[in-house]
Amino acid sequence: MAIPQDYIEELSRRTDIVDLIGSYVELKRAGRMEKGLCPFHNEKTPSFYVYPETNSFYCFGCGAGGGPINFVKSIQNLDYVESVKFLAARVGMPMPDEDDTLSKLRGRVLGINRETARFYASVLNTQQGLAARKYLRGRALTDATIRRFGLGFAPDSFGALLNHLKAQGYTEAELLEAGVCKRSQKGSVYDAFRNRIIFPIIDLRGNVIAFGGRIMDANGPKYLNSSDTPVFKKSKGLFALNLAKKSVSRRFILAEGYMDVISLHQAGFDTAIATLGTALTADQARLINDYATEVVICYDTDEAGQKATARAIEIFKNTNVKVTVLAVTDAKDPDEFIKKFGAQKFEELLDGSRNTIEYALQKAKRKVDTTQPDGRAAYIREALDILAEQARPVEQEIYAGRLAEETDVSKATILSQLTTVNRQRGRRIKREREKRMQNEGVAASISIPYAAGGAKALGIAFAEQQLVAALLKNAEDFIPLVQGRITPEQFISPDMQEAYAVILQKAAAGAQIDLTTISEDLPEKTLALLGKVLAQNYGIGFSREDVELFLERIEQADTPPAKVAEMTPEELEAHFAALRDKKK
Ligand code: UTP
Ligand code: MN
Repeated sequence: MAIPQDYIEELSRRTDIVDLIGSYVELKRAGRMEKGLCPFHNEKTPSFYVYPETNSFYCFGCGAGGGPINFVKSIQNLDYVESVKFLAARVGMPMPDEDDTLSKLRGRVLGINRETARFYASVLNTQQGLAARKYLRGRALTDATIRRFGLGFAPDSFGALLNHLKAQGYTEAELLEAGVCKRSQKGSVYDAFRNRIIFPIIDLRGNVIAFGGRIMDANGPKYLNSSDTPVFKKSKGLFALNLAKKSVSRRFILAEGYMDVISLHQAGFDTAIATLGTALTADQARLINDYATEVVICYDTDEAGQKATARAIEIFKNTNVKVTVLAVTDAKDPDEFIKKFGAQKFEELLDGSRNTIEYALQKAKRKVDTTQPDGRAAYIREALDILAEQARPVEQEIYAGRLAEETDVSKATILSQLTTVNRQRGRRIKREREKRMQNEGVAASISIPYAAGGAKALGIAFAEQQLVAALLKNAEDFIPLVQGRITPEQFISPDMQEAYAVILQKAAAGAQIDLTTISEDLPEKTLALLGKVLAQNYGIGFSREDVELFLERIEQADTPPAKVAEMTPEELEAHFAALRDKKK
């Protein structure tokens, strides 16, 4: 653990969550809580609540929730330690002393990476790098581009880098931590990249944090990438973000590969970025959101690229960036497109890049034969669903006109059908919401005793949530009631089990217990759930009798139905939902 517990406790006491969140979200007082528009998803009516008494927040729309630390983590896209520092700076607390060994190791790894990038770049300019230079020239990269991206070449040797870095005073253990060397099964240490063109990955502060290495022939995997290290997390890294952030343009181009990005930059599109050989993650989308107002997705034209496009669109829905999709035609990727048709043509493509509604409409249209009445009808049906789902009223009006032209159906007819679909959709959403609320109400009013296993499990899991909520609200009074009486192993819902175990540990260590102090030890998902549970119990003061009741209920789970115990939280939720429906 990097930061002392009492430091976190002090930080938790000094942080006013309403004040903190209020600097990002316009909050309005609503009784004993505050509400506003959720910063983590798009919404027009507020479902985001802040609860000063439990120092927590919860969004009933998207399920984001937790305490101040995970709020900062999400909104600022920082890791745990950085979030703590951020909060500390806000309340004027001196910075916590970071765990010394870890920060030292990070420093060493960054040093290794810098030296490795330098070494490979210099090899590229020697006799050994001749073939690589030829290869890069063959791919039409200029010397300026090669320098700009710090490209290099890893010689075909098992020990060139190893020996170079050892001579600089780095140990084998450090080189292994940095991932630039690997250990063979026999135990010897060797260079991770051999006979490959090297693409350094550079973070926003200019540190070299990882490498990609491309093979020049077909012998082996095309690219090798660094695995996660103390300074690098693949799911958070973005290639060329360090360059894109310096551009005057806030319209970023998200491409699939290193070569696409480099080619785009060379052609003057200096906001091109790419993920590092993996699908876009929510973390990366949030990071992009910090720098871009618009993103043009420009993936490969193959099926994989199109699937990845659809997924990326979904992920960006949780951000404020405007997403458009670029349709590259007659080339497999932007790199090839620029080679074939030039930067000017790509620019034209960019300006005409279609938004996600249009993209969905095109896709629907391609699926059917619109020269046939059947096909046209099917296209209209799907288009209406897309518009009801995604388009704002003005946009609906515009697209209805277009749809009318495309299908030879009058605009009035289309608009009137659209009104029907909108209404049906509105009713369905309302029904679903009511049902959900009812179910939550059912869960909240369940009382013992239960007849059979299923309903019993629901009651027990509910009691577990309530018990954890009670402990978070008033550990001082309730910890003595649970200690020595119920062990985490008796819990049947895995996430509450984990939360309960952490709470007991903290209590045993004499620590303060609240959402902030337990947040380092629990996954984001559990914290969000706890945020929700606290939200649901806001304004309810638990009594000893309540806690007693929860305990009794949990004790009934002594022989938990094995199936329930093995379920993931999602399965458990689905299982409960099914049970609730059956009860009616
Ligand atoms: P591509 O195969 O499209 O590579 O993979 P590219 O960047 O366009 O390279 P060229 O033009 O063929 O030389 C897209 C990205 O997927 C990751 C890399 O990040 C690559 O840039 N990838 C691909 C891997 O990580 N490993 C592989 O074996 C292949
Ligand atoms: Mn490619």
